[in-house]
Amino acid sequence: MSVAAEPLIPIPAASRGHDYRRVTVAPIAGACGAVVGGIDLATDLDDAVIAEIRRAVLDHQVVFFRGQRLAPEQQVAFSRRFGPFSPVPFIEPVAGHPEVIAVVREAEESQEFTFGSLWHSDFSFLPQPPFGSILHALEVPPYGGDTLWANQVLAFRSLSPGMQAMLEGLTGIHSAVNAYSPKMQPIHDAFSGMTVRTDDGANAVQQHPVVRVHAETGRKALFVNVQYTIGLDGFAPHEAKPVLDFLFAHSVRPELACRWRWEVGDVAFWDNRCLQHMAMADFTGHRRAMHRTTVAGEAPAAVHA
Ligand code: SIN
Repeated sequence: MSVAAEPLIPIPAASRGHDYRRVTVAPIAGACGAVVGGIDLATDLDDAVIAEIRRAVLDHQVVFFRGQRLAPEQQVAFSRRFGPFSPVPFIEPVAGHPEVIAVVREAEESQEFTFGSLWHSDFSFLPQPPFGSILHALEVPPYGGDTLWANQVLAFRSLSPGMQAMLEGLTGIHSAVNAYSPKMQPIHDAFSGMTVRTDDGANAVQQHPVVRVHAETGRKALFVNVQYTIGLDGFAPHEAKPVLDFLFAHSVRPELACRWRWEVGDVAFWDNRCLQHMAMADFTGHRRAMHRTTVAGEAPAAVHA
């Protein structure tokens, strides 16, 4: 399948300030997140609805749909309305559905972490990290297993002008080394619900601006995360560490975040270009199962191109 053959944005968002007519949009927090209602994602949605959903994603960074029931092929069809499939290295897809990964932790896996439980932006180590991730809850624990998102536009805006100016000139070094290199295989092997194949390709590094300009909104957003950002270009490790440690803590402060308590049938659709997210690993003894599809994005643009 060729990613380049399909337009990155098949149906542009409705214009900014658009008066929603086909869906309802109800924010869940001041920083980010909104419930989008009035639609069944399993149906053949027309372009106007897709444009409104895309507008809601741009306005709220992460949107939630309740009470959905999507077979893998229906989730793929919905995802593709927003752009081509983004590569998902290292993770074995669902059998027969190469564009779907299962995010699963079994009840007997008494780990203190789960897939995605460190703050991150999905696959920021790729040259063109994904725009969107779409997660559909199939089985949820009776408590715990919430997902949190933090708004990286607000994270940037809440810094002082001096810090903003300094960060705009910096380049982050991203890598999957601490997630998918062979040294991590024993950790993945402890999860029976997912098949992760580590390899030395995870040691590769990729540079991205520390502050990226959002391709659709033009807003500046911090683009570093504790899972995948391992350094700063031109900085010695002992110089980069305090800067990154500050940014990792600053960028996920509670006032920048929203939190979602999952119910079976929920679908979350988020924009990795301006959010970080993490899954809570606090449901030992219970199963949690999701299907995720991932929508292609573009190479992050720097403020000073
Ligand atoms: C992910 O990082 O994509 C998974 C998040 C979750 O399972 O809540």
